[in-house]
Amino acid sequence: MKNFKVNQTENFRKRAHDLIPSGAHTYSRSDHVFPENTPAFFTSGKGAICQDTDGNSFVDYGLSLCSVSLGHAYPTVTEAIKGQLGKGNSFSRPSILEGELAEELVELFDNAEMIKFSKNGSDVTSAAIRIARAYTGRDLVIRIKEQPFHSFNDWFIGSTSKSGGVPEAVKKMVLRGSYNDLEGIRSLFEENPKKIAAVILEPMTFEEPKDGFLHKVRELCHKNGSLFILDEIITGFRWDLKGAQHLFNVKPDLFTIGKGFANGFPCSALLGPRELMELGNLEGPVFLLSCTNGAELVGLTAAQATVKVFKNEPVIQHIWDYGRKLKDGMKELIQGSGLSDHIHITGYPCRPGLSFQETDLASSLELKTLFVQEMIKGGILMDHIAISYSHGENEFELTMEALNSTLEVFSRCIKNRKVKPAIEGKVISPVFHY
Ligand SMILES: Cc1ncc(COP(=O)(O)O)c(C=O)c1O
Repeated sequence: MKNFKVNQTENFRKRAHDLIPSGAHTYSRSDHVFPENTPAFFTSGKGAICQDTDGNSFVDYGLSLCSVSLGHAYPTVTEAIKGQLGKGNSFSRPSILEGELAEELVELFDNAEMIKFSKNGSDVTSAAIRIARAYTGRDLVIRIKEQPFHSFNDWFIGSTSKSGGVPEAVKKMVLRGSYNDLEGIRSLFEENPKKIAAVILEPMTFEEPKDGFLHKVRELCHKNGSLFILDEIITGFRWDLKGAQHLFNVKPDLFTIGKGFANGFPCSALLGPRELMELGNLEGPVFLLSCTNGAELVGLTAAQATVKVFKNEPVIQHIWDYGRKLKDGMKELIQGSGLSDHIHITGYPCRPGLSFQETDLASSLELKTLFVQEMIKGGILMDHIAISYSHGENEFELTMEALNSTLEVFSRCIKNRKVKPAIEGKVISPVFHY
């Protein structure tokens, strides 16, 4: 077990909580979602390693909420940005780069004729919903209740437990189906004839689509005059270079990308066919996406440099290979410790999932708190598992070493029927219930 210095960041933490609701500008970066021994702040990162304010290093499986796909401070991306910075970042007319990157991405994806960039995933999924509503003249949207997030905008947040401030009328506009439950979604269509504008979903989170689920939802949408929208903010540039839509051979009417394709810099995009996207022309009815910083060049430059690496190097292959090795290695150790009933490794190798089985000893969140806490002691940040192009043999070895120690603690706690006392602080809690 590594012996980390008692950190000197408590003062910074207090100041942040004084000034910022929940102490962080992204809820999923706040203290609530991490065990108390997690560093309060990270100050730098290189490759798959990040460093806290006391200079302690951690193998990073958080990767800034899945967005740092190549690795921190990836040299070609950093160099490209430096090159742009000396020439200014934002002008009163568009840049050539906007068009160049648009061309590269429209060419890359199977189902895109036009594209619109923005700065985050929330904007572009909201824009997809707006087009669907304008195109169909309908208000209702179906989403998948197990999928945690599409947007911080009203249409989505109104359908979660954190819906304060969203008008009642808006809250009623989102219906919730279940992943792989085609009949449930069919019933929603039957109960709301000619009222559903779209179904929006991630092609996959941790559960694989079964029995042609994606294709059948698409069919159901089209039979009912609705659009089929894929949120590929996470799956794009992770499941496949051309997105999970390519891997599963399913054609969305509209889709979004965000995390991963600019290696943690701000860039996201909505893509789709001309017929739908042109509703967002100035002559059309939809105010699609338009913000002052939409054209800033750091994000676009980072995206172009990142996509270039994805296209020219085996990034996707590496993410899958590392993920396969990680899943296998973790499963073997968990099995060897007799903990297979308590800790499950799920998902595809490109995005392994971690889940904890509730027992009479502890809730799944308590078990997760203990796990993440012990991994942190071993120098591994693993509140979820995202893999980058920079994760290699060294990171793998460190992970297995930390996991070994973590599982020893876990086994002892379970054997002695004392899980809760081993948690050194509060239990983590999700941002909201979805
Ligand atoms: C699947 C999915 N869609 C959309 C979003 C929203 O993206 P952003 O946080 O960039 O607004 C997220 C963010 O976590 C996401 O995971």
